[in-house]
Amino acid sequence: MSLSQETITAVKETIPLINQESENVTTRMYEILFSKYPETKPLFDNADKNQHKKLAGAIAAFAGNIDNLGVLGAAVEKMAQSHVTTQVKPVHYPMVADALITAMGDVLGDAFTEKRKNAWIEAYTFLANILMQREQELYAQNA
Ligand code: HEM
Repeated sequence: MSLSQETITAVKETIPLINQESENVTTRMYEILFSKYPETKPLFDNADKNQHKKLAGAIAAFAGNIDNLGVLGAAVEKMAQSHVTTQVKPVHYPMVADALITAMGDVLGDAFTEKRKNAWIEAYTFLANILMQREQELYAQNA
């Protein structure tokens, strides 16, 4: 499966907006995640204090290289390792999707149009599938 050019364009349009507001988007995302899905909180117990920057950076990097997954390869491996260490499971992905997309809407307002929102959901799902597949392999290796 790959992303359509239309989706890529719609996601890329939002990059400058998200870069400008990355701290706010990230803060809002955790706020929603931990209040709506408190079961995710323990996963972040050992998260270092740079996690906010990491996530904001990851979102921007992902969006910027959405049509060049080769560039994202090393980053995907690092994320997968980190997720396996902290016991992130497939069940958590829709929770983060909800928190992230809602946070973007809250922070970006009208600029986060229906079209851009749908493109982000598609792009997130695309990356989530890559991560979950790699994480499943790592969990199996560790078992
Ligand atoms: C497409 C979705 C996701 C992306 C792009 C993403 C991105 C990242 C990145 C870039 C890191 C830091 C990796 C490193 O440099 O060590 C990370 C770590 C982490 N992520 Fe995710 N993640 C995603 C989904 C999730 C989900 C669903 C959860 C579960 C609630 C989660 C929880 C964590 C935790 C607990 C860490 C470790 C924090 C730390 O030790 O600092 N992530 N993620």
